[in-house]
Amino acid sequence: MDPTDTAAAAEAVVGGDAGHLARLFAMSPDLLAAAGFDGMLKLFNDAWETQLGWSREELGAKPYLDLVHPDDRAETRAQIARLAQGETIAEYVCRLMCKDGAIRWMAWSGGPGDEAFYIVGRDVSDRLAMEHELAQRAERLANTNAELQDFAYTASHDLSEPLRMVASFLGLLERRTGDALDDKAREYLHQASDGALRMRHLIDDLLLYSRVANEAPRREQVDLRALVDDVLGVLGPAIEQERAQVVVQDLPVLEAEPTQLAQLLQNLIGNAVKFHPPDRPPTVTVTARRTIGACVVTVADDGIGIPETDQERIFAMFTRLHGRDEYAGTGIGLAICRRIAERHGGRIYVESGVGAGSAFHTLLPDTPAAPGTPEGR
Ligand SMILES: Nc1ncnc2c1ncn2[C@@H]1O[C@H](COP(=O)(O)OP(=O)(O)OP(=O)(O)O)[C@@H](O)[C@H]1O
Ligand SMILES: [Mg+2]
Repeated sequence: MDPTDTAAAAEAVVGGDAGHLARLFAMSPDLLAAAGFDGMLKLFNDAWETQLGWSREELGAKPYLDLVHPDDRAETRAQIARLAQGETIAEYVCRLMCKDGAIRWMAWSGGPGDEAFYIVGRDVSDRLAMEHELAQRAERLANTNAELQDFAYTASHDLSEPLRMVASFLGLLERRTGDALDDKAREYLHQASDGALRMRHLIDDLLLYSRVANEAPRREQVDLRALVDDVLGVLGPAIEQERAQVVVQDLPVLEAEPTQLAQLLQNLIGNAVKFHPPDRPPTVTVTARRTIGACVVTVADDGIGIPETDQERIFAMFTRLHGRDEYAGTGIGLAICRRIAERHGGRIYVESGVGAGSAFHTLLPDTPAAPGTPEGR
């Protein structure tokens, strides 16, 4: 070939490209075609045969709309009309019918041409089936969760009343007959009252847990320092009894539901004050730091620590690592904390080691400003 013959050189290049293109066209697992505005396929690749089961002759002789599921034909016609207007389409999903009667969901992209339009179809049947299955599972899970929450609320609520009766009649009995009772009987009565009181705490915690689960937090600006001071006031007797030293560093103002954040801090600081070796009073520090788009509040102690294997499960309901005679509690506190953190769109986690103290970190993301509202939220 004469290297100066640019026309021949160009033709050779085009010829070479066309060969590559034809191979790629034949190999594509996606359905590729040039479809005429007259309703017939002009050029289509092998994927049409292998995926739909129709022969090349059948595909060439059939109007392509006959392949589309009858319920999707009107919308498909509308999409073709858009292509005829020179528009492109992306991710148009419709059903195609295979020769054996099976139905495949295809996602199409298409672009216009002079006498034909060009389409690429990808089989998304498996993806859609999976999405459908996932959506169904999520719905079933949400229903079960809602039922469980209703159950927890109703059960704990309905248990309150009979328990109140038991406690008040025990009190009455103690007041009326206390002097006439011998030591053994007084001890029994005391144990019964103690049990009723523990059950009261348990029910209150369960009610609190289901309330946190049911109500979305109403966030507002919270002065964390003032909130921690309130919590320390409530925990005053425990702090005094355990001879705990609580150090509070500079704390920011953040967006949260104040009652829920106070509950979270009350449990974390309460735990930090509680779980120390009997021979050494605890030192507790409360700190907070800003990260991008969030605030991390940390309650750290120098107490007994938590084995690595238990660091996840302590956040589950009723999980306690010690007997009640060693450390009091119902094992709901951290489950409530986790719920509160999650309801705020955040999370809670612990860093700890046996005998090395614990640091509980609560990450609270800033509220993203919603567009279109004057206050920005
Ligand atoms: N700061 C801590 N140091 C060591 N262990 C801890 C600490 N905080 C929690 N734990 C362990 O995790 C368990 C669960 O904590 P959680 O606050 O849920 O329950 P609780 O304090 O025992 O009871 P409740 O908070 O319901 O009165 C505790 O029983 C304890 O074993
Ligand atoms: Mg606790």
